[in-house]
Amino acid sequence: MKAALIGLGSVGRGVAEMIAQKKPGITLTGIADSKSGRICNEGIDIAAVLETKRTSGFCGDTAISAHDVITNADYDVLIEVTPTNALTGEPALGYIRAALLRKKHIVTSNKGPIALAYKELSALAKKNGVALRYEATVGGAIPIMHTLEDGLCGNEIVAVRGVLNGTCNYILTRMAAEGLTYEQALMEAREMGYAEADPTYDVKGIDAAIKLVILANTIWGNGTKLDDVDVTGIDLLTPDALRLAENGDCTIRLIAEAIPAKKILRVSPRLIAKDHSLVIEGSLNAITLETDMAKEITLIGKGAGSVETASAIIGDILYIRDHYDRRA
Ligand code: HSE
Repeated sequence: MKAALIGLGSVGRGVAEMIAQKKPGITLTGIADSKSGRICNEGIDIAAVLETKRTSGFCGDTAISAHDVITNADYDVLIEVTPTNALTGEPALGYIRAALLRKKHIVTSNKGPIALAYKELSALAKKNGVALRYEATVGGAIPIMHTLEDGLCGNEIVAVRGVLNGTCNYILTRMAAEGLTYEQALMEAREMGYAEADPTYDVKGIDAAIKLVILANTIWGNGTKLDDVDVTGIDLLTPDALRLAENGDCTIRLIAEAIPAKKILRVSPRLIAKDHSLVIEGSLNAITLETDMAKEITLIGKGAGSVETASAIIGDILYIRDHYDRRA
């Protein structure tokens, strides 16, 4: 598979490093960050590009933009891993549309375009005979989309609930275990690279709500929008509230929940028993699917991180290789 990689932050770097290290049969022919780009249809020397990026801050030529790479490089799949903009979805939305119009498959970790324009983009992908895959948008390394489309494909999904934000889970865990203040724990989460570029998305519950929208639209195709979600974050929680919860064998977790039959669509901090399957530690995420035949299935895994997210992205690329004809 030939791939063009747009975005060279923590996720993009993880993808490039894993392609170079694990050699899964993916050749990068184009690469771009926010300031520069590079095209080499015979295959980019990934180690050299990463070193250039590390020392200069650029991955290529400043005269070559991400849009130039998307329009001119020879590739089968666009790997779009630029930062999420939940309000406009840009610039990722434009990148994805441009690649779809060139009949290129899309693999993205970008929540903005999928939460805002899933219906339009999936219709455009279908019309052009290509895939739109976005496993990395929800749950980091957890293969939730593969589970829904393959493992549970004969099931009706009745409800979904989960811990969908690694930053909040990390903060809550650290506040409870070490008595850190909210600010101290948030600073740690940012240092670990879990938080969004603007961490208010994480702590106000917006990131989890975006992921819930993506899950709801994937499962039920019901046109759910971010505004439909009732959202409360963890930013006003005090160490006292957590201490009180811990005294009673309970704890607090930010839970996202969708149950269409009960018109429930919410993200909020909830008091739950410590032995509940959604009480997980650190930056982990957990997703419980309530189904008619399989009953309850809970998946737990790393919700954020460079290499962990690369796992979801490389899985999507290899899925496309195995399920779609290679274009000439
Ligand atoms: N900021 C997100 C989180 C990253 O903390 O879960 C993964 O989407």
